[in-house]
Amino acid sequence: MRLSLLPSAQWTACFVLLSVLCSLFTPAVSVKYENFKTCDQSGFCKRNRAYADRAGQLGSSFESPYQIAPESLSWKNGQLQGVILKTIDAAGETVRLPLTISFLASGSARVVIDEEKRQKGEIELRHNSIARKERYNEAESWAIVGGLDLSTTAKEERDATKSIVKYGPDGQFEAVVTFAPFGIDFKRGDATHVKLNDRGLLNMEHWRPKVEKAEPKEGEETPVQVQQGEDESTWWDESFGGATDSKPRGPESVALDITFPGYDHVYGIPEHAGPLSLKETRGGSGHHTDPYRLYNADVFEYIMDSPMTLYGAIPFMQAHKKDSTVGVFWLNAAETWIDIIKEKESHNPLSLGIGSKIDTKTHWISESGLIDVFVFLGPTPKDVTKAYGELTGYSQLPQEFAIAYHQCRWNYITDEDVKDVDRKMTKYQIPYDVIWLDIEYTDDRKYFTWDPLTFPDPIGMLKQLDQSDRKLVAIIDPHIKKKDGYHVVDEMTKKDLAVHNKEGKPYEGWCWPGSSYWVDCFNPAAISWWKTLFPYSAFKGSAENLFIWNDMNEPSVFNGPETTMPKDNLHHGNWEHRDVHNLNGLTFHNATYQALLSRKKGELRRPFILTRSFYAGSQRLGAMWTGDNQANWDHLAAAFPMILNNGIAGFPFAGADVGGFFGNPEKDLLTRWYQAGAFYPFFRGHAHIDTRRREPYLAGEPYTGIITRALRLRYSLLPSWYTAFHEASVDGTPIIRPHYFEYPSDEQGFAIDDQFFIGSTGLLAHPVVTQGADSVEIYIPDDELYYDYFDYTPYSGQGKHTMSAPLDKIPLLMQGGHIFPRKDRPRRSSGLMKFDPYTLVIVLGKDGTAKGELYVDDGDSFEYEQGAYIHRVFQYSNDILESKNIGTKGKLTDKYLKSMKDVVVERIIIVGAPASWTGKSSLKGGEELEYHAAEGGKAAWATVKKPGVKIGEDWKIDFSVSHDEV
Ligand code: NOJ
Repeated sequence: MRLSLLPSAQWTACFVLLSVLCSLFTPAVSVKYENFKTCDQSGFCKRNRAYADRAGQLGSSFESPYQIAPESLSWKNGQLQGVILKTIDAAGETVRLPLTISFLASGSARVVIDEEKRQKGEIELRHNSIARKERYNEAESWAIVGGLDLSTTAKEERDATKSIVKYGPDGQFEAVVTFAPFGIDFKRGDATHVKLNDRGLLNMEHWRPKVEKAEPKEGEETPVQVQQGEDESTWWDESFGGATDSKPRGPESVALDITFPGYDHVYGIPEHAGPLSLKETRGGSGHHTDPYRLYNADVFEYIMDSPMTLYGAIPFMQAHKKDSTVGVFWLNAAETWIDIIKEKESHNPLSLGIGSKIDTKTHWISESGLIDVFVFLGPTPKDVTKAYGELTGYSQLPQEFAIAYHQCRWNYITDEDVKDVDRKMTKYQIPYDVIWLDIEYTDDRKYFTWDPLTFPDPIGMLKQLDQSDRKLVAIIDPHIKKKDGYHVVDEMTKKDLAVHNKEGKPYEGWCWPGSSYWVDCFNPAAISWWKTLFPYSAFKGSAENLFIWNDMNEPSVFNGPETTMPKDNLHHGNWEHRDVHNLNGLTFHNATYQALLSRKKGELRRPFILTRSFYAGSQRLGAMWTGDNQANWDHLAAAFPMILNNGIAGFPFAGADVGGFFGNPEKDLLTRWYQAGAFYPFFRGHAHIDTRRREPYLAGEPYTGIITRALRLRYSLLPSWYTAFHEASVDGTPIIRPHYFEYPSDEQGFAIDDQFFIGSTGLLAHPVVTQGADSVEIYIPDDELYYDYFDYTPYSGQGKHTMSAPLDKIPLLMQGGHIFPRKDRPRRSSGLMKFDPYTLVIVLGKDGTAKGELYVDDGDSFEYEQGAYIHRVFQYSNDILESKNIGTKGKLTDKYLKSMKDVVVERIIIVGAPASWTGKSSLKGGEELEYHAAEGGKAAWATVKKPGVKIGEDWKIDFSVSHDEV
């Protein structure tokens, strides 16, 4: 053959070329699209999109068939109630839809639409189904924990066509409820900010009996359809991937359009892998073609920049424009799709080109349940997040160890392996707090047991960890192995606490243990039973330093439709799985939370539980992570937008698998990932069972050293992180904050999602997430002074700045005007740092002042609820640094302060120190001052060592320099 005549060099060249070509065409690991529905394959999504298309085509001749019956309206105690009539045929037949609009004392409004026939149970179910007939109305009992008090000041006025309600702070908000067609405009001041049913896409698929149509005989005409144009093919049953959903209640979807006039950015509705500022889903440049989907699922090898569903769902959206933020919360736990389009402002046809305004138009579509939507009118992002948190609860104040570093992999294979990793981390002086056990620790995947061969001595292992105040997290999943003699499954089936199939028998599916049942945590009896499994005496081999990981709780069912449960499965109360699917993960997480609270009588410690699946309200129960990512740069880059989005949707205790779950990261990727992970609120390294070991000490130098420095940075800043967690726990403010949240007027920052602020510290981080990058463009939003965290290089001027970022450097700026606390003594774990002295970093602002906070408590118990904490504000102005108490005294304050009486500030660093300190070596009060003049492009800075002040006390330090030296 001619080819064989090629000289060997040419052979090599050919081979190289071939390999390059192969690598180009080797398909990237990618999601199995065919396992998950597109909107077109989801009957109700397709029907509602078609409805929207018809409305769009008809334009002004389209009229929504929903009208309020004015005579039905009544106003009482901040609530407007009545009936919406849906006209369903040309003869004018109507369906009654009870409507309740509640105006809440908090300033939020809630609109609930139900269906009378289903409410009263006056419908017939097909296939002898035993499912509930009503539309699911219990989402509230899982998601909402407060904030429902009705306004006592809201006032209603009505005329023949509309009702106008003034409500909110100082009556500044207004809801204009139009009767025909039904719609609501929510106004703040003179402007409308949120419109419901503006496009007429409100759709409540009412109950109807199935009319069996005889097949037309040959030669006969097909009978004319009553509801012309409606696609009935998916009304009565629906098949996907070989499974058929029996749909005993027929079509029952709900949909509503929500328009944000003049708003060009919308954020939230996690969980999706894509940018913080959500993309259009129909038209527009770079748009998605499917709506954003919320249907919690175990999406294996998920892809980037996609509206595909992932493991969790929070149907809460913020809309933002210059100086105004509003939000909506769609309280529905069924499968949901959200279309987003952006259009030039409709009421201003001349506003083309520069300066023109955008309307963001959204279309919310759920498979079943109520229309239950909350509207928040802001005006700031903080107001919206706070109002949402009043309803669904604020983020749990976690155990302090939980915000330190977690070392995980699937799997540490024996208890000796765990102890060995623990020893090595100590040997290499790499701090970590928690080591994790994945499913292989169990005896044959039976949770609450240990593999007797590989984990013969769990208590010995826990004891070794405890010597360094370290913890263990063990995985417990919701699928319970079907195995005779396994006490957990025996008890569960005997007590009938598993999820049922459509016939009302325990549902059997396939997961890690093989054939399994799923505990039904919607059932209060199941929660009570679940609690009995966790006491140290019941879960043998567990101890005080063992905490829990809840995985696979979407639930993941390997042989189920879309890797989850059939929708016609039944939960407690005979609610169909369809109605509650997105809540499932929360209920399991909740049961484990309750269980950890009751492990030992009299022991009241904060539970720590990581969950994969979540819903609105899960933030009260622990942390989440972004599931099975991949060891590549795209996934590293995707994590921050995802975590930021979770944060603004009220669940900020979020992180991504550091290093990437699937695949083996190159060392530079692993190193950059640790540098990024040091800024995840939840910071855990994790890896798939088939990957190579990658504990930080294995990387070798310079990587191990760089990773260790990133970890130490996290540990030194733990007091600042914990203060940010406290803030999130009282008002919902995200822990890492996107630009628009901190600078709501700065339009240039609205889409930025690769840098963020940490709490209120003024620390602005832009970790490197691109391969080979040795610098980043960091965006400064104001004219304040900024300094490089590590070497005090000053940066200033609004706009982009290039920051050099070789592999050993994390781009991190300190914004002038802030004070933040640190602990600078490296230790094995955060627990060992508890009584370490503090360093305060004062970053002087342009005006020579600075301010910051510290919150600290025992990091473990609930005693902070009785005042056992220190909360201080530090202020620097006119040469005086002052520490003031901002806590509220409680029963346990004194006891706690006593325990902290020896904890001092050991060092104060002043960045941007005044030039007038040049040559001075002490402060007026005698404290030693070390001054470093500005040089080599670095700002001047100074330190005061051993200022002799205590962290729990009020004090002032006079920074005027010593008199005799002047
Ligand atoms: C799926 C989880 O996402 C992953 O983190 C875990 O390692 C495996 N389940 C095995 O439990």
